Amino acid sequence: MKTIRIDASVSYDVVIAPGLLGEAGARIAALAGRARAMVVSDEHVFSLYGEKLLESLRSAGMETARFLFPRGEQEKNLATYGALLETLCRERFTRKDWIVALGGGVVGDLAGFAAATYQRGIPFVQLPTTLLAAVDASVGGKTAVDLAGGKNQAGAFYQPRLVLCDTDCLGTLSEEEYRCGCAEVVKYAMIGSPELFGEISRKPVREHYEEVIARCVAMKRDHVQADEFDTGVRMLLNFGHSFGHAAEACSGYALPHGEAVAMGMAVMCRSAAAAGYCPEETREALEKLLRAYGLPTEIPYSAEALAEAARADKKAAGDSIRLVVPEKVGRCRIETVPAGDLLLWLRRGGVQ
Ligand SMILES: NC(=O)c1ccc[n+]([C@@H]2O[C@H](COP(=O)([O-])OP(=O)(O)OC[C@H]3O[C@@H](n4cnc5c(N)ncnc54)[C@H](O)[C@@H]3O)[C@@H](O)[C@H]2O)c1
Ligand SMILES: [Zn+2]
Repeated sequence: MKTIRIDASVSYDVVIAPGLLGEAGARIAALAGRARAMVVSDEHVFSLYGEKLLESLRSAGMETARFLFPRGEQEKNLATYGALLETLCRERFTRKDWIVALGGGVVGDLAGFAAATYQRGIPFVQLPTTLLAAVDASVGGKTAVDLAGGKNQAGAFYQPRLVLCDTDCLGTLSEEEYRCGCAEVVKYAMIGSPELFGEISRKPVREHYEEVIARCVAMKRDHVQADEFDTGVRMLLNFGHSFGHAAEACSGYALPHGEAVAMGMAVMCRSAAAAGYCPEETREALEKLLRAYGLPTEIPYSAEALAEAARADKKAAGDSIRLVVPEKVGRCRIETVPAGDLLLWLRRGGVQ
């Protein structure tokens, strides 16, 4: 078992271990007392783990209610968010009661935003069930839903009171979900940990979930504590994401996020190596690791289309854009470049 304390505007523990679902009730009740719990989940995750969680909450003396919605990013919208708020209101939830989010990043982002705004804020717990949510979405307090005009465009910074990551839940992930989570793990290794890079090169992530997730969460903690509201160093967590988001946009969001991030990291690293920011060995090592995890290293869109999409992305401030550029395995830096140079960066990274 690993416990990582996050000291942001709210302090809370992230606990990572197998078998945590069964203990969730006792751990949540220790903080919430006899409060009521609204379990929020998607139907797929709930069918796998919902009853076990409800049972655990009830046996700890908590009264429960549930809010379920169909799985998928398209449900992370204002309509689902509104329906959750109305359910909380109808069930007469108060500021003493808790939201318990069971699922991947979609569930966590949506439940967190409802927790941030229902009655101006009620406590919530994250129980991440995807690798991506465990290493990224469940920690750090970014909550949001999508608008027709863009992803995560309505949201709030709002920290959970507890994060419980039961690594047993990760055993039912599809290969695609697993792969995509691994892309984010590779990202952490590239921005801050040559040790993690070595460990996941030698041994698949799924064979040592607890250690890998704990390392990633510790790195996220450092970035969040230094920059909770994402105005500076937290940006490093966006390595691979500028071009990755652009690739996602070009695909009409058909491309899985983790695969897009893998492509974005590979292109950025090739470009950085060609321009002398990092040595060739860094590019080789990154591409080799991505391939070992079955992740793509080429972007199947034109440089023009990608540059246009990247410029439209929210990270483009005025005429310049901030890119996260690798210097070596375990170290990246933020480079502000003119938006007009994006084409050059992409072409140098092998995009036609
Ligand atoms: N808040 C943040 O800081 C942050 C960071 C990164 C990503 N995100 C958000 O997270 C979302 C993506 O997260 P995600 O990939 O976890 O998506 P997700 O929640 O849609 O989960 C992916 C799929 O896996 C299924 N699933 C979840 N857990 C499972 C399990 N244990 N076994 C089997 N199937 C399971 C879900 O039903 C879903 O179909 C995006 O909306 C993204 O914007 C947020
Ligand atoms: Zn990501």
